[in-house]
Amino acid sequence: MSNSLFRRKNISNILNEAGDDAHGGRGLKRVLTVKDLTFFGIAAILGAGSFSSLGYAVFNGGPGVVVLFVITAIACAFTAFCYSEFASRIPVAGSAYTYAYASFGELFAWIIGWALIMEYSIGNIYVAYSWSDYFTSFLDKVGVHLPQYLSTSYMEAKHAIEGGSTKPEILDAWNNSPVIGSLRIILDVPAIVINVMITYLVYRGVKESRNFSNAMVVLKLIAVFLIIAVGGYLVISNGLTSNWFPENTEKVRSFMPNGFSGVMTAVASVFFAYIGFDAVSVMAEESKNPQRDLPKSMIYSLVICTVIYILLTLVLSGAVDYKNFEGIGDPLAFIFEKQNLNVAWMQFLVSIIAVVAMTSVLLVFQMGQPRIWMSMSRDGLLPPAFQRIHKRFQTPSFATIVTGFVVGVPILFTDKTFVLDFTSIATLFAFVLVCGGILLIPRKEKQPGKFNLPYINGKIIFPAMVLGAVILISLFSKNYFADKLDFTKEKRIDAVANMLPVNVSENDQAVLNINNLIGASNIGEYVSLKDSLSKRTTTESKLAYTKMFITDASTQQSKTMKVSVIIFWLILISLAIITFLKNYSLIPLLGVTSCLYLLTGMTLANWLWFGGWLGIGLIVYFLYGYRKSKLAEPTV
Ligand code: ALA
Repeated sequence: MSNSLFRRKNISNILNEAGDDAHGGRGLKRVLTVKDLTFFGIAAILGAGSFSSLGYAVFNGGPGVVVLFVITAIACAFTAFCYSEFASRIPVAGSAYTYAYASFGELFAWIIGWALIMEYSIGNIYVAYSWSDYFTSFLDKVGVHLPQYLSTSYMEAKHAIEGGSTKPEILDAWNNSPVIGSLRIILDVPAIVINVMITYLVYRGVKESRNFSNAMVVLKLIAVFLIIAVGGYLVISNGLTSNWFPENTEKVRSFMPNGFSGVMTAVASVFFAYIGFDAVSVMAEESKNPQRDLPKSMIYSLVICTVIYILLTLVLSGAVDYKNFEGIGDPLAFIFEKQNLNVAWMQFLVSIIAVVAMTSVLLVFQMGQPRIWMSMSRDGLLPPAFQRIHKRFQTPSFATIVTGFVVGVPILFTDKTFVLDFTSIATLFAFVLVCGGILLIPRKEKQPGKFNLPYINGKIIFPAMVLGAVILISLFSKNYFADKLDFTKEKRIDAVANMLPVNVSENDQAVLNINNLIGASNIGEYVSLKDSLSKRTTTESKLAYTKMFITDASTQQSKTMKVSVIIFWLILISLAIITFLKNYSLIPLLGVTSCLYLLTGMTLANWLWFGGWLGIGLIVYFLYGYRKSKLAEPTV
């Protein structure tokens, strides 16, 4: 018992409470095998990321986005190893939350549990929206047309209208929606309905969900292989392989036409495509042999999906010139359209499969969330109702219903971009803490029949890698570090944005001047450009647009990235020093490093929202969990 914010649970207590078999078992039904768990992994991984945002990734990075899939897979693999090590030591349902409780202590455990709501529940909102997009387009193909205002999210329509969108479907949703008082009735009904159905299925029990999930995964794998086989065959037989080396702006053929930075722009969507392998770990208490099977299934599902992503990306970027993917939300169907590979039945098949793929993602995440809450409730950090298990269905009934509301209600007032960003930042954050947690728990003897994370002493290797990276970067990108520490450019952009009384469009001379201004090499040039801008006349709307264009897109992101990169290097150097002193294990170190690096791509808005969310979480913790925790000292 303790009053410390960092009070930790010991592993055998966690196992005891979870009713581990060795301790006389109670609780959830143990029915899942390694095959089921691998299927769960694939069910969670292969979804909106590949069916929807892959087109965006290819548009930005060209065929070279394959490289990013490999890099992200490596980052996820390090993390999967760490999840596996934890899952083999602590085979209970709470996943990263429980792991953090054993390694960092209660406060961090709470923070992770709170962040995981964003991965599981908020992530599912994104998938529900994407599900709805594909479902309505499938209905269109069979001649059933839902009104736009019943298949669009209110916020998406509102933001698009405010931004001056001329997209016909947005205008249709906005202009034809019923109005009550000043409120337009625009809502994404299919997204809400699928959420209700999934909640019901999860409530009914894991066995039913498992059968359903397995069937969907088989279907989606067959279909994805068909896309790869038919698409791949046509790419080769139609002689389209030159698309893999499109011309860049200098008219030179290149696998990465926009360079490596173009490829890196796609980090968020590529990372989202991998989220889900960790969801396997929340099934620990329903797994027959969690210590052996959870690690295997996480790695299997990750490897299978990586191979699929690489092949899909090659087929996509071979079938169509990468530039044609601009604004394409259904890239896998798009490549079979008339003007491309021209296979009508594949278009139809792909829209059905996309719906199936998304359904299985929804199912896995919707099963994960209640199980995390159940663990938090067992520890006293959430009210007891969250650990209530349904007598007949043996599922966490109350927590499942609450999850249904947490996913369903925001569908009414959020949009896709917002929830996607939220999900990515929270998941990466949780990954960093899981990898970091492995560094803190004591090393264990190898145990036969269980997963054992190989220990490679990082003492010399890790500091050498950090030093090597610094030397290589300084040699090959001389200004890299100087540029990160220099904020002059951003200050200039801020200054211009603040004084800009100018009537401009994006292609106008003013913006060209602004661009020159930003890049101005001396202060004299800067001042004279500033003067010439200030003499221009103004219209409010365009001015507002220009300010937004400059401040948000450019300065904020550039500043945030610079600050993030500086913090990244500071953490890396500190880690190298601590590793030298404490002989930390290399694999988790690489996990921390790669996830931290991916975090440097997040925008300021992401960080602010995430910070706000954590702030609310801390208030809830101090009002409830801190006092009610099973580890809290009893008050007299
Ligand atoms: N990886 C999952 C998907 O792409 C979240 O839908």
